[in-house]
Amino acid sequence: MLSAKRILLIIGGGIAAYKTLDLIRRLRERGASVTPVLTRAGAEFVTPLSVSALAGHKVFSDLFDLTDEAEMGHIQLSRSADLIVVAPATADLMAKMATGRADDLASTVLLATDTPVLIAPAMNVRMWQHPATQRNIATLKGDGITFVGPNAGDMACGEHGPGRMAEVPEILSAIEAALGDGPLRGRRVLVTSGPTHEPIDPVRYIANRSSGAQGTAIARALAALGAHVIFVTGPATVPPPDGVTVIRVETAHEMLEAVESALPVDAAICAAAVADWRVASASDRKIKKTKGGLPVLEFAENPDILATLSQRTTGRPRLVVGFAAETDDVIANATSKRTRKGCDWIVANDVRPATGIMGGTENAVTLITADGAEDWPRTGKDQVAAQLAARIATALS
Ligand code: C5P
Repeated sequence: MLSAKRILLIIGGGIAAYKTLDLIRRLRERGASVTPVLTRAGAEFVTPLSVSALAGHKVFSDLFDLTDEAEMGHIQLSRSADLIVVAPATADLMAKMATGRADDLASTVLLATDTPVLIAPAMNVRMWQHPATQRNIATLKGDGITFVGPNAGDMACGEHGPGRMAEVPEILSAIEAALGDGPLRGRRVLVTSGPTHEPIDPVRYIANRSSGAQGTAIARALAALGAHVIFVTGPATVPPPDGVTVIRVETAHEMLEAVESALPVDAAICAAAVADWRVASASDRKIKKTKGGLPVLEFAENPDILATLSQRTTGRPRLVVGFAAETDDVIANATSKRTRKGCDWIVANDVRPATGIMGGTENAVTLITADGAEDWPRTGKDQVAAQLAARIATALS
């Protein structure tokens, strides 16, 4: 049920807009209120009269409609909803969103909003597959926009492939999921993930074997409980999850900067395998092979992101969780790490190569809190993530 949920529905200009009329009816049946915004192109496919009659609400369409500006204003319009839904989201609307253009009411609302946004793309298959659209999709996903569809099938233009707008029941489920009353709804949670790359020169770097799988699974699990996840990731081998805000970094220094700019957050989960050292003075030119000897690399210590966050005197997240990948004396080392760094919990694991955990799909962890150590049975990284996300939700409740 969607009772009392406020949906701002932006209708773009595509043949699939006819399905949006049915979407409006189904949303209202479930108790949601629908405020429609019709783009100029959208009005070529469905009439403002049909939209307003079905929504039971005035249709907004013009940025420069002074009556609306006086009554409500586009800023207020963008904020007075629980969810913004764009259906159909055309290639053009997506390009505007990805580049931050604001040249009509719909794009201005989308740029001004701090409300979650769900889009249902619909376009010709070639337009969907075009590298420009694919770049925009990646950007929008990185900005935390949730997608539903498109589906593959026969298109109104006579072609076949991905580009059909998702069907109304699918859009309804996506809306229900986006508005779900998960226990972390309204919480901002930061997750660091992946390795860092520390440059030696423009072509060489120091790295580690972290795949980013566990951090990615944790971010996905937290988002599934309704959290707004800021996902700061080094160059990982697994792609970031959908529905989170992705900030990509390379070095430990960049990661610290991104983490600090994401504050304030309710909880921070530091799952990244941050390089402990960097090359003190990385060369800005490729170091040449010399006949008379080998280059000597001098190291400098990297900032400890987990310790920095944990020991903040102002704006410390309520819950800071660190990881301890150990090969010896796992519990003893992780317990002392918890106090040394000042974090609340440590998720400890044994990463001896024989365990197959580093870079693998399973994990066996011990959760160390102020109350002691708790062994969790070996299971998939997704299940470990779901269990940890549930514990975080309890701790923040
Ligand atoms: O000291 P160690 O690397 O074993 O600590 C692991 C924990 O500290 C992990 O949570 C990791 O994300 C975090 N860490 C960090 N910044 C560093 C080193 C580790 O945030 N420079």
